[in-house]
Amino acid sequence: MLLPAAVALALCVAVPPAAAAADAPDSKVPPALAKGEALFNTNCSVCHGAGARGTKQGPPVLDKIYEPNHHADIAFYRAAEMGVRAHHWKFGDMPKIPGVARDDLTQIITYIRWLQKQAGIF
Ligand code: HEC
Repeated sequence: MLLPAAVALALCVAVPPAAAAADAPDSKVPPALAKGEALFNTNCSVCHGAGARGTKQGPPVLDKIYEPNHHADIAFYRAAEMGVRAHHWKFGDMPKIPGVARDDLTQIITYIRWLQKQAGIF
């Protein structure tokens, strides 16, 4: 009689912390990515949307086609530095984005890869 009660109690105690840990990363951008998020919001989100979820002017960068095996980081540098001819979508061309340094792009990409991981695309 005593043992099953102890097991049930152990299960009740064990479940909530595990569920909370699984939820946490979805809602909160890690402090190390805050600069990348700010740079993305300044330079990219007007078309790619808050949290890279897309707008009427540009696609969601959380789409499966943008995972690292389909669009490696080099494609992100190239997109910002040279612009993109419309080829996957019907939004039109992406213009080159002047004034975003390579280091800034590196931070933007790190932020986008984190968002993509949260969205489960890779
Ligand atoms: C003026 C709107 C606009 C802005 C601002 C913009 N993009 Fe884009 N971007 C687009 C559109 C539209 C496409 C889709 C082109 C297509 O049809 O494949 C695109 C595509 C891309 C792609 C895919 C490139 C490929 O090889 O297919 C990447 C990566 C990307 N954008 C990154 C960025 C980043 C990073 C920024 C900010 C530095 C940014 N974009 C800012 C409109 C924009």
